[in-house]
Amino acid sequence: MNPFKYGQVVSTVDFCERPVLVKQLKSFIQSGQNVLLQGERRLGKTSLIFETCRREKKKPFIYIDLLEVKSLEGICKRIAKAIACSEGKAGFMEKSLRFFSSLKPSFSLDPVSGTPLLSFDSSVKLKPESLEELLDLIAKEYTGKGLIIVFDEFQDILQVDHADEILAILRGRIQFHSGITYIFSGSVRNTMYEIFHSSDSPLFKSAALLEIGPLKRDNFTTFLRKKFAEGNCIVSAELLECVFQMVSDIPGDVQQLCSAIWDTTNSGDTIGIDIIQDALEVIHARESKSYDLILRQLTNLQTRTLSGLAKYGGEAPTSSAFLRATGIAQPSSVSRSLKKLISIRVIYHYGNEYRFVNPFLKLWLKDKDF
Ligand SMILES: Nc1ncnc2c1ncn2[C@@H]1O[C@H](COP(=O)(O)OP(=O)(O)OP(=O)(O)O)[C@@H](O)[C@H]1O
Ligand SMILES: [Mg+2]
Repeated sequence: MNPFKYGQVVSTVDFCERPVLVKQLKSFIQSGQNVLLQGERRLGKTSLIFETCRREKKKPFIYIDLLEVKSLEGICKRIAKAIACSEGKAGFMEKSLRFFSSLKPSFSLDPVSGTPLLSFDSSVKLKPESLEELLDLIAKEYTGKGLIIVFDEFQDILQVDHADEILAILRGRIQFHSGITYIFSGSVRNTMYEIFHSSDSPLFKSAALLEIGPLKRDNFTTFLRKKFAEGNCIVSAELLECVFQMVSDIPGDVQQLCSAIWDTTNSGDTIGIDIIQDALEVIHARESKSYDLILRQLTNLQTRTLSGLAKYGGEAPTSSAFLRATGIAQPSSVSRSLKKLISIRVIYHYGNEYRFVNPFLKLWLKDKDF
């Protein structure tokens, strides 16, 4: 069985230790300090939260995913689902369902996994105060229990109508819930920064910042070698260095590439750097549909800009060298394309450069001509 996991939360034996971050997060949880956990995609935010909370066995934990949430109803429904999935106390589920009666909930069990499924009438509208009441209901139920509430992909709350009002309600309730640790996690750095660091935002300075970066190469190398050893395979240090470098040390992408290397080799192999190209072809074949979907949304100019970023790097895309190499006449055209590519989350701004959200798309584009 392929031992590499990607695109999912990893825990226990699949979680490569990151002792400093686990210790910091644990300490915030123990002192009831609200936390803003911030880092790029696939760095391991959600896994860090789950693994740390798993180790805090006595503390109840409610995980709310706000990815692509679009309305107040959406937020409340996701909180309700999170309550349904948490190991709630007997009776609390009933109480919260009564609370949600206006949303006309229906409750069933997934026939395959046995997990609770909750659905609501999608035509019902709620008032912002409902969120306030809901948060208080949870706080009351868990008084003195050291509850942890996680809002993941929190940046997406800004897409909701009247986001400021909702943030103000959150602020208003959170400050009275001293026994609860709220963890806000997000990947769109600028947006998260705006919510917690802009002085006119309701959540200004309401959580301690915890920045997550890549895993330490030493730790991750030992972890990955052990996984390869499960198939009696030995990997060269040179190969792993090359893997880290190709995907900018992003753990999810490292694991995806290792998974493809595993699929490309046989048990007992000693694996060297020459395997990389075959492994990449496996990934490109699996992902080609998503590459096509992205390219189909782009204009000719945006495609050339993206291809230029893949071929010539993202450090100076408005420089004359970049314009010459891509054949684009105006730096302003590149700037407009970059804006569009960021808005559809194909690239992001990192330090002084533009990076691909999916590094495999970058590697694929390198060999393509447009
Ligand atoms: N501690 C870890 N040990 C091993 N692999 C990890 C670790 N953390 C993350 N990963 C890898 O990264 C992938 C993504 O992890 P996770 O979903 O926790 O990241 P995330 O930052 O929440 O991502 P997203 O921004 O997409 O929500 C995992 O499936 C796994 O491949
Ligand atoms: Mg996540």
